[in-house]
Amino acid sequence: MSKRTGPFAAIIVAAGSGSRAGGSPKQWRPLHGRPIARWSVDAFRAAGADPIVVVIAADQRAEAETALGGAGVIFADGGATRTESVMSGLAAVGAVELAMIHDAARPLLTTAHIDALLDALGSADGALPALPVSDTLKRETHFGAATVDREGLWRAQTPQAFRLQPLRDAYAQWPAEAPATDDAAVVEAAGGRVTLVAGDPMLMKVTHPEDFAMIEQLAGASRLTRVGQGLDAHRFGPGDGVWLCGIKIPSSLELIGHSDADAGLHALTDAILGAIGAGDIGDHFPPTDPKWRGAASDQFLLHAVDLVKARGGHVTGVDVTLVCEQPKIKPHREAMRARLADLLALPVDRISVKATTMEGMGFTGRGEGLVAQAVATVDMPA
Ligand code: CTP
Ligand code: MG
Repeated sequence: MSKRTGPFAAIIVAAGSGSRAGGSPKQWRPLHGRPIARWSVDAFRAAGADPIVVVIAADQRAEAETALGGAGVIFADGGATRTESVMSGLAAVGAVELAMIHDAARPLLTTAHIDALLDALGSADGALPALPVSDTLKRETHFGAATVDREGLWRAQTPQAFRLQPLRDAYAQWPAEAPATDDAAVVEAAGGRVTLVAGDPMLMKVTHPEDFAMIEQLAGASRLTRVGQGLDAHRFGPGDGVWLCGIKIPSSLELIGHSDADAGLHALTDAILGAIGAGDIGDHFPPTDPKWRGAASDQFLLHAVDLVKARGGHVTGVDVTLVCEQPKIKPHREAMRARLADLLALPVDRISVKATTMEGMGFTGRGEGLVAQAVATVDMPA
C-alpha cells in the first residue's frame, strides 16, 4: 500500500500527431478494444488522481470526446511540441501540491507504478521511472561505428511525479522554443533534485508501427477477463407496471420488493459484483435499510460499476435472461438494451437481453413471479 495520503493531479499529454507510428494519431486507436489514451485516464482515476487533465490537439477534439467521454477529465489545448503541451496542462491543473505528468502513448501504467513514484518522491522535487540501458550503445560516425559507454545510463519513462510548485517554477524558466523530451529534464535544468525509481518494460511507449503488436501482447498479459453471474426473483402483485432492466413496462402487475424490484438490474448488479468478488447487492444495499424503499435500481448498478472502476477495471459485456410468461419482453427488448448501454457506457452490441418462459411450469409458469439471470464480463488488472 502507498504511504501517500494527500491528493495529486494528473496531466496526460495526448496532443501529438504520432508521425513516427503513422496512420491516425496513436493515442485514440484501440488497444484491446479501449482507446490507448483511455487506459491512462482509467489508471489515474483508479489511483485517485484529481483532477485529471488531458492535453489534446484542437483538431482532435472529436476523437478525444469519443475516447474519453464520460471519464470526467478536463481538456487543455496542446501545443506544437510536447513541452508546450505540458505547459498548457500545468496552466489547467489548479492548486494541488503534487502532480504527475504522463505520455498518453504509454497505456499500461497501474496504481502500483503511480504509488511507487509518489512514495519515492519524499523530499525530492521529482521522481521518474527509469530502466538501465542493457544493450551496447553505438554512435554512427563518418568513419564507422563507435561504442558509447553505457555505464550509469538510464532510459527515462513516464509517469513522472513532481512537487507542483518547483515544476511550475522550472517551466517558467525554461525556453518554450527548446523542446525537452521529458519533464524531469526541465526540473534538473532549474537545479531541482530528481530521483530514479525502477522502471518497467510495461511502461513502454508506442512510438513506431511495430510497437502496436508488442503493446497488444503486453496488454493481454497485464489484464484478466473475469466473469460473474447473478440471479434474482420477485413476486408479482397488482400494480401499474413492471420495472425491468431500467424500463417500466405498462401492465396491470408490478413486481413486489423493497426497491423498485427491477429483477433484471438486480441480477446484473450481482453479476458485476460477482465478477470482482465484491459480495452481493444485499451487502451494499441492505433491504432492511429504509433508505432503499422504492429506490430506482439503476443506482445499485452504477455503484457496482464504480467499484469495478475503482479497482482499475471496466465492464466489457453483459447478458441478461428474463424468465416470465407475462409481461411480454420482446417489444421492450431494444429499449432495455439501449438503457443498459447508457447506464454501463457501453456500445449496444455488448449488451444482450433475452427472454424465455418455463412452458407453464413452476412459479414463473403459474405467473406468480419472475426470475432474472445475468452474466457480466469485466476486464481487470491481472
Ligand atoms: N505530445 C503532446 N503534444 C505534442 C507532442 C507530443 O501532447 N505537441 C504527446 C504525445 O501525444 C505523446 C507524448 O507527448 O503522448 C510523447 O510523445 P511522442 O511519443 O513523441 O508522440 P507524438 O509526438 O505524437 O509522436 P511523433 O513524435 O512520432 O510524431
Ligand atoms: Mg513527438
